[in-house]
Amino acid sequence: MEKNMLFPKIGGILHGGDYNPDQWLDRPDILEEDIRLLKKAGINSVSLGIFSWSVYEPEEGVYNLDWMEQIMDRLYENGIYTILATPSGARPAWLDATYPDAMRIDEYGVRNHHGGRHNHCMSSPNFRNKLQMLNHKLAERFANHPGMLMWHISNELGGECYCPLCTKRFQEYLAKKFDNDINKLNHAWWTTFWSHRYNSFEQIEPPFINGERSVMGLNLEWRRFTTWNMIDCMKSEIQTVREANPEIPVTANLMKQYDGLDYYELAKELDVVSWDNYPYFHNDYETFDDTLRESAFDHALMRSLKPEKPFMLMESAPGLVNWHPYNKLKRPGVHKLACAQAVACGSDTVQYFQIRKGRGACEQYHGAVIDHAGADNRVYREVAETGEMLKKLAPVAGTTIKTPVALLFDWDNRWALRDMNGMSNEDKKYEKTCVNMWREFHKLGVDVDIISPRADLSQYKVLLAPMLYLLHPGTAEKLTAFVKNGGQLLATYLTGYVDDNQLCFLGGFPGNGLSDLFGLVSEELDTLYPSDKNYIKFKNSDKLCLVKDCCEILKVKDAAVLAEYQEDFYANTPAVTMKSHGNGNAYYIAARIDAQDMVDIYKKMLQDAGIVAKNVDKNIEYHVRSGEEGTYEFYLNLSNQPVTQEGVEGLDMVTGEIISGTLQLNGYGVAVIKLAR
Ligand code: GLA
Ligand code: ZN
Repeated sequence: MEKNMLFPKIGGILHGGDYNPDQWLDRPDILEEDIRLLKKAGINSVSLGIFSWSVYEPEEGVYNLDWMEQIMDRLYENGIYTILATPSGARPAWLDATYPDAMRIDEYGVRNHHGGRHNHCMSSPNFRNKLQMLNHKLAERFANHPGMLMWHISNELGGECYCPLCTKRFQEYLAKKFDNDINKLNHAWWTTFWSHRYNSFEQIEPPFINGERSVMGLNLEWRRFTTWNMIDCMKSEIQTVREANPEIPVTANLMKQYDGLDYYELAKELDVVSWDNYPYFHNDYETFDDTLRESAFDHALMRSLKPEKPFMLMESAPGLVNWHPYNKLKRPGVHKLACAQAVACGSDTVQYFQIRKGRGACEQYHGAVIDHAGADNRVYREVAETGEMLKKLAPVAGTTIKTPVALLFDWDNRWALRDMNGMSNEDKKYEKTCVNMWREFHKLGVDVDIISPRADLSQYKVLLAPMLYLLHPGTAEKLTAFVKNGGQLLATYLTGYVDDNQLCFLGGFPGNGLSDLFGLVSEELDTLYPSDKNYIKFKNSDKLCLVKDCCEILKVKDAAVLAEYQEDFYANTPAVTMKSHGNGNAYYIAARIDAQDMVDIYKKMLQDAGIVAKNVDKNIEYHVRSGEEGTYEFYLNLSNQPVTQEGVEGLDMVTGEIISGTLQLNGYGVAVIKLAR
């Protein structure tokens, strides 16, 4: 067994999901039937109690936890472990009626009504107290249960609260950050603009939609504060549940590219990162390959939050979801493929929402392992087949992905770009640009970490830094040192415009010294209407590469020009450049071109960095996980047709076949090759 495996009690890959037996307490026969079906499908864990507050505490101060103990016991007797949630994801009606300050106030200043979920005020002492009392009881009772695997804090933490309690905490947070000096804040936020100067921290309100939204520094700090306050509330939950048994690891389930909370900060408080993945399979706006490779990006982001250990796929849908605009079934074989993909990308778990469909309320048609009609159906059979496959992959648990290539991705940068008034105000497409670049780079057969610009760069030889508009203190120096030490760096339009208060750098973009690193100044930014077109042409090719959305007009000082614009008043001026610093190279892409049109640059970056990539078929997604005891190659066929991959040597753990040379995969097929030592 690998020493970094997440769950030694499981001894391999965890297969489980959200289970709500609290909805079936009057049907003991259902629980028994579910246990039988879970075992048959190779499910070894369930996540319990995520929305159970009103069953645990039907009236204020009246606690009822016995049912949970009986269920955990019964599951454990049958070899099924429990991930136990704290129930803060939704509140009982009595709580909101008695303590209205538990309900959030929205960006118009209006108090929410009771209902829904995920909407508590993070500052409310009443909410925190009530929660703490219940969490304390849960921890006392269950933290030492033999079936207890892990704590699942709340559910998909997110959103904001604009109430007076949160406002006051925001003011205190700002006073601390700006050393109690309001003029420091005025300077950092450029508040003389439109006469927005503050005289005291007490005058500062959150960025209400009908209030102050024109101060970029305020908007940015509000998001940082919301992250801080959410983490503060989460930490109080973690502290309570940890007390009873510090050995039980803690996670919180994160969401796809969620931009409301800085996950780099949040992940620091967790023992393990987990997330919920609901791709828009088989949609009508992109290829299936694109959808799956975007999931690989999402997994890579989660994996990179704690790269030293595996992450968890906490939720995914067996069958279908019910909340997409169109809820299409996963085609046969896709379930297993997507589950294998999570493991290929570094997850030690495959988990579902949900184990059994509830009869009523808004998730009654959401995919589940066990349907209203039972389990004699395609979805259940595919889940069971997946269970078979996961058993065979047990030795992979605990291994991780290591790579010398990273893409810089940053929450402050996301917030700043979204806030930036300029370019196209509809959508800056930061995330999409990152996904597209990551995807094309990864197709070359190397994995790419997704890291914060604040991360340690020492293990990397190649860095992609699309649209790094906001530079934290120290980032420019780090990037410069990276290239001067021989690193390969690629940046694009919109690099280095503002500092971490969103004040523009003086002296030319990219700022803070980066214009010397790239050997250029970006003088103007032209925005293209969707119907506008421009092209660039690389000097060593005749191909015209389409430009969309934006073009920066460059003044090149001392960089080599690799491509030029073809149209408009800036035709024949530089569009792609490279400046060498010894063995290091700094590339600058001044216009939004297709990520595929940069493949030659990616290849050269890999070559100059001495990285030899696996040559993979265009339909195959490829990853390598390794640990102290083994190295495992994952080949995922993203097409529904058979494919062939050359250069494969080793044991296919899925089929038990020895492959020497050519690997054949059926449509959506998966192979996991254990490499000979
Ligand atoms: C989210 C939630 C779950 C459930 C699923 C449905 O991920 O965490 O409780 O609502 O969506 O897809
Ligand atoms: Zn609040």
